[in-house]
Amino acid sequence: MRIPLLIVAAIIWPFLSTAALAQQAANPLPQAEASPDDIEGGKMFATTCGFCHQEGGRHAGRGPKLSKSERSDEYLIERIKKGKVGAMPAYGSVFSDGQIIAILAYIRGLDD
Ligand code: HEC
Repeated sequence: MRIPLLIVAAIIWPFLSTAALAQQAANPLPQAEASPDDIEGGKMFATTCGFCHQEGGRHAGRGPKLSKSERSDEYLIERIKKGKVGAMPAYGSVFSDGQIIAILAYIRGLDD
């Protein structure tokens, strides 16, 4: 006897959709929200950059003063990502783009 396809489908459908749901739960979509660490530009700066960019970036140390920089955002981002041989480490693979933007926002928010 042949079982009509429709009946087979009706029987296995609930299992299929439960399996799909279970997979979704195990594999949630990436969160749209930023993690708190992403927006802590000041904190990331203090722990990673403050050693060379003194006073939170307000004074020159081993690296230049960053507050009130007249460089473009693109320039600063490029320097943070790529560093400079013999002067500054590259952070492009240390921080996500979002984190680098947060650090840039911190630098732009610095007063003198
Ligand atoms: C080992 C010391 C050191 C560390 C650590 C360091 N920097 Fe630098 N940074 C430098 C030096 C030196 C320069 C100057 C390079 C040049 O000649 O352009 C510089 C340049 C820069 C510039 C370009 C400034 C300008 O006006 O030319 C930015 C922006 C910057 N650093 C941000 C950061 C950030 C953000 C971090 C942490 C993620 C960081 N730096 C960590 C040494 C450092």
